[in-house]
Amino acid sequence: AARQDDASHSGPVWRTLRRVGRSAGISLRRATCGDGRLEFSPVTRYLVTGGAGFIGANFVHHLLAHTDATVTVLDKLTYAGNLESLAGLPEGRCRLVVGDVADPVLVDELVAGQDLVVHFAAESHNDNSLRDPSPFVQTNLVGTYTLLEAVRRHGTRYHHISTDEVYGDLELDDPQRFTETTPYHPSSPYSATKAGSDLLVRAWVRSFGVQATISNCSNNYGPYQHVEKFIPRQITNVLDGGRPKLYGSGANVRDWIHVEDHSAAVLLITARGRIGETYLIGADGERSNREVVEAILSLLGRPRDAYDQVTDRAGHDLRYAIDATKLRTELGWQPVYADFAAGLADTIAWYRDHEAWWRPQKSGTEAAYAVLGQ
Ligand code: NAD
Ligand code: DAU
Repeated sequence: AARQDDASHSGPVWRTLRRVGRSAGISLRRATCGDGRLEFSPVTRYLVTGGAGFIGANFVHHLLAHTDATVTVLDKLTYAGNLESLAGLPEGRCRLVVGDVADPVLVDELVAGQDLVVHFAAESHNDNSLRDPSPFVQTNLVGTYTLLEAVRRHGTRYHHISTDEVYGDLELDDPQRFTETTPYHPSSPYSATKAGSDLLVRAWVRSFGVQATISNCSNNYGPYQHVEKFIPRQITNVLDGGRPKLYGSGANVRDWIHVEDHSAAVLLITARGRIGETYLIGADGERSNREVVEAILSLLGRPRDAYDQVTDRAGHDLRYAIDATKLRTELGWQPVYADFAAGLADTIAWYRDHEAWWRPQKSGTEAAYAVLGQ
């Protein structure tokens, strides 16, 4: 912490502190002491919702490894939350509160003690949203509304985690990619609720002056991803001696990014992002599903055609593709995992080495897919 007597908030000490803080990836907050002088201290207390899920857990590990922050995780521990994903964190810097982001009393109490909220918690799987949309409406819309009202009351900085799916899909040969100005056009109950939650954030910024940023990221892969999702499902099928399951023709394209690169981008946006702005996060990782399945089979020493084609997803989005120019040029972000094959090999090794983490979910997940012919 540092202190200066410049009541204008724009004097030389404040400018120096802000520059040094930014170069270290730290935002500084200003507060007035009882004696009227100004105090400066780093943003250190994060509330991370959904921190026991795939991306949230990776973000908590990243945050604690790269900053001095302390973290409160708020997670309901649904089927998608896993306490084991938070094992091995530095002593005394992270606590878990098991609860619902749509619980206004709990959320208000937790937000009151924080510098910054990063909101990952969501129902996240498209296939589940086709079976039963109701928890998606409750968590993704009502949960986001509940958090926005709390950060509005407490004046807390808020970062909203969203998805490229809010923009709908592209033709395979469309030269355009999604940008921050692409109109919203969601297809599934999942992406519609995410789109709605983004619009709530934008309205709360404009109408109430909430200090928020939004990021829309492409498809993540890496450690701690639930075996219901495409890449872990296929890896664990093959590790179990089974075959990958490709929906439809397998021509659908996703734009893959390693979850560690997503975490780094989010941390940067919380430190340096401009309030009210949206940043798209993507690493130029377009691959067809068929290409990904063939790469997994090949890395695991199996014939590249040893997969099954199964019933397609209803309303299946054809292609996503992100143009992350704004994030790269304005904030200087670059992906570290630019080589998808290397990232995929690391991910396969992680699932091979962490069977105890995914095994309890595997048979139930496959049984639910089997009912749908998938
Ligand atoms: P996930 O399903 O792995 O994890 C979601 C977490 O939220 C779980 O720990 C779950 O217990 C928790 N949760 C669910 N409902 C809750 C509630 N009502 N209250 C508190 N906690 C609750 O999801 P993920 O893949 O890690 O996605 C995290 C966020 O990132 C989501 O907002 C998602 O829309 C977004 N996103 C995901 C991807 C991707 O490729 N997975 C890409 C872009 C954006
Ligand atoms: O684009 C970002 C989105 O990526 C996130 O917002 C979502 O939370 C996340 O789940 C993911 O959505 P997708 O629907 O793209 O991911 P999923 O892993 O479910 O599927 C990826 C692609 O693989 C998709 O085209 C469907 C296909 N697929 C999926 C499964 C589970 C298969 O071919 N076979 C499968 O078994």
